[in-house]
Amino acid sequence: MSELLIRGRLLTFIEEPKGIDDTASYLTVDDGAVLVRDGKIAAVGDYAEVSKGASAGVEVADHRPHLILPGLIDTHLHFPQTQAIASYGAQLLEWLNTYIFVEEQKFAEPEHAAFIAGRFMDELLSNGTTTAVAYCSVHPQSVDAYFTAAEQRGMLMVGGKVMMDRNAPDALRDTPQKGYDETKRLIGKWHGRGRAHYAISPRFAITSTPEQMEMAQALVAEHPDCHVQTHLSENKDEIAFATSLYPQAKDYTDIYARYGLLTDKMLLGHCIYLSDREISVLAETGAVGVFCPTSNLFLGSGLFDRDRFDKLGARWSVATDVGAGTSFSMLETMDEAYKVLHLQGQRLSPLNSFYRMTLGNARALGLQDRIGSLHVGADADIVVLDSSGKSAMELRMRTAKSLTDELFILQTMGDDRCVAQVYVAGKAMKGRKAVTAKRTLEVA
Ligand code: GUN
Ligand code: ZN
Repeated sequence: MSELLIRGRLLTFIEEPKGIDDTASYLTVDDGAVLVRDGKIAAVGDYAEVSKGASAGVEVADHRPHLILPGLIDTHLHFPQTQAIASYGAQLLEWLNTYIFVEEQKFAEPEHAAFIAGRFMDELLSNGTTTAVAYCSVHPQSVDAYFTAAEQRGMLMVGGKVMMDRNAPDALRDTPQKGYDETKRLIGKWHGRGRAHYAISPRFAITSTPEQMEMAQALVAEHPDCHVQTHLSENKDEIAFATSLYPQAKDYTDIYARYGLLTDKMLLGHCIYLSDREISVLAETGAVGVFCPTSNLFLGSGLFDRDRFDKLGARWSVATDVGAGTSFSMLETMDEAYKVLHLQGQRLSPLNSFYRMTLGNARALGLQDRIGSLHVGADADIVVLDSSGKSAMELRMRTAKSLTDELFILQTMGDDRCVAQVYVAGKAMKGRKAVTAKRTLEVA
């Protein structure tokens, strides 16, 4: 049996905060502790109480005065785009053709895929993200690289090979049958192995023929416990192109609805230009709209209308969308989310931001029993945040008067420098020696 006592200021959410000061929505303990036993949370609460339940001589990781939260969760990004962040100038369709469909071809090479997968996981960890939902490339070997790198680090990761059989270079196209067969084989190999979760991933309506959509429909029906992910309504040219390819559909959302893809396992990236009818369809089916603020600003795509999602009762989550997204940091992502909503006269409270990065995103994935909050029996995925991680923050923190002040400073000014430590299933990951495919490096 292995045990670790993690000591610091605890913050974990119980419910979605209803307002700027909804103190009933979270639990905080000034001198708190999490007792980790064999990778799971065995006890959580006051240090004085929790420490009594630990074995004599238990190792104590004392992180006071830092904040201890559940590991952060990113619900949409692209692992093969790790080296394509900051590609200049283009909007979505031109950006895909000019940069992304070139970059993703490199993932036919297993060595390259393994190297980037390792660096990708370490980037997530150094930013405090312990679970993410990623698209791999069309190549099954990219999925093997992705889940192998996650398994080596013990991470709970969701992902899958993109299915795409048109409107892309030859080297990135599968066929309806090949996309089905490869996905089926990868689900058999990875889904439920250790902490791996497979996501059936038709890239978007533009790159899948109706025949491929039918195959995706079959996969979803055969594997109802797998997540499903695609892109929806990100850019006006994209919407016009997608709907022209499916003239029978009422609108873009209806394309996916017609193939039975909209369930509470579905994650729909972007969802910027949806009508009330479309958002209502998401609400009825439980499908989740994924808000990707840095990406939506970077590609000039548009502004996610959170209030309309809330008003119509549709679920939404937050994500980086690397590599259209410009940062692996969920803190930086929430900073941009705040601004995107502000531009529309909407407010995102600091409590809601931290709820979204943790329990909110876990609920969007249906994984709230395992991750997203500090509760007994959960997996011990934990992040330690230093609110004075940068000198300007240290100065600003001197005037902070409340927890919400502190959280807002963290979200507005913070980045990976504020991540003092991150634990995956109770193992400290920052500062360890990480072996990647090509070299050993000190993880930042
Ligand atoms: N739509 C289809 N593929 C992609 C992608 O890789 N990134 C973004 N932002 N949108 C997409
Ligand atoms: Zn995306």
